[in-house]
Amino acid sequence: MHDQAERLRELVNVQNNDKEESREESSPTRIMAITSGKGGVGKTNLAVNLALGLVSLRQRVTLIDTDLGLANIDLILGITPEYHLGHFFTGERSLRDIIVEGPLGLRVIAGGSGFQELADLSERHVDKCLKHLVELEKGSDFLVFDTGAGISYKVVQFIIAADEIMVVTTSEPTAIADAYGIIKVLAKENPQAKVYLVANMIRREDEGNQVLERLVMVAEKFLDFNVEPLGMVFYDSVVPAAVKHQEPFILVNPQAAASKNVLGLARRLLALPDIPVHSPGSFWRRLFRR
Ligand SMILES: Nc1ncnc2c1ncn2[C@@H]1O[C@H](COP(=O)(O)OP(=O)(O)OP(=O)(O)O)[C@@H](O)[C@H]1O
Ligand SMILES: [Mg+2]
Repeated sequence: MHDQAERLRELVNVQNNDKEESREESSPTRIMAITSGKGGVGKTNLAVNLALGLVSLRQRVTLIDTDLGLANIDLILGITPEYHLGHFFTGERSLRDIIVEGPLGLRVIAGGSGFQELADLSERHVDKCLKHLVELEKGSDFLVFDTGAGISYKVVQFIIAADEIMVVTTSEPTAIADAYGIIKVLAKENPQAKVYLVANMIRREDEGNQVLERLVMVAEKFLDFNVEPLGMVFYDSVVPAAVKHQEPFILVNPQAAASKNVLGLARRLLALPDIPVHSPGSFWRRLFRR
């Protein structure tokens, strides 16, 4: 894994220009949720590899698993977190205890059932937790939340609290229809958010462009809502192969099509103008409705 990380760094350094390499020290933390309407479209793989792409571009990234699905972040990274957010919220463990260091220095937090447990805690205890979460936020350039699929309360609570939401779809009509369903919720419940669209498992460029253009168009026409087509990731056999070996594909093969696509998405995220800003802690308060 170490050699692979080196290769990614080399690739990035060769391609980086000076502007991209310098990170503004005072820039606010970006809080992004990765979501989809339909399940199994590649959110978790995208979350892990995009987070690593951002780290290779000198961003400090904390990746938070909010899902208890089968193909979890820890499985894809081949790490086994001993504790999750639930242990932090109940006071059994400190925030530091539950953070696991992944490749390239990526920070990973397992969600566990933690987010539900918070509802039962006292106001005073929640305030204490919030203080630590704000510290975590200040120490990160990006907090990336991998969510489940669909519009259950468990998912919606994240996407209506986050500043930036990445909606992932494939070119399947059902995935596109369900992505539209998510965008509809966002247009109503979190209209200030920046919503990005990523088409995954794409076989041909024109197919990907069609998916992106169609969704952007219907969101504009029927919801009067602006969605940013961030880009596409090709169907690439390196992805399932890497999953099998519990290694992120961007490290296994940084030159693969999917890896280059994901690095491209990371670069685009860093180059976007007008990123929403929030005061420290406001995201967490929104999340917990306090
Ligand atoms: N670009 C791609 N090319 C080929 N296979 C892919 C690609 N992206 C994802 N996959 C495959 O699709 C499957 C589902 O991916 P993943 O678990 O990331 O989806 P998910 O949206 O997080 O699913 P869930 O909704 O269950 O959380 C995995 O087996 C993965 O290998
Ligand atoms: Mg997933």
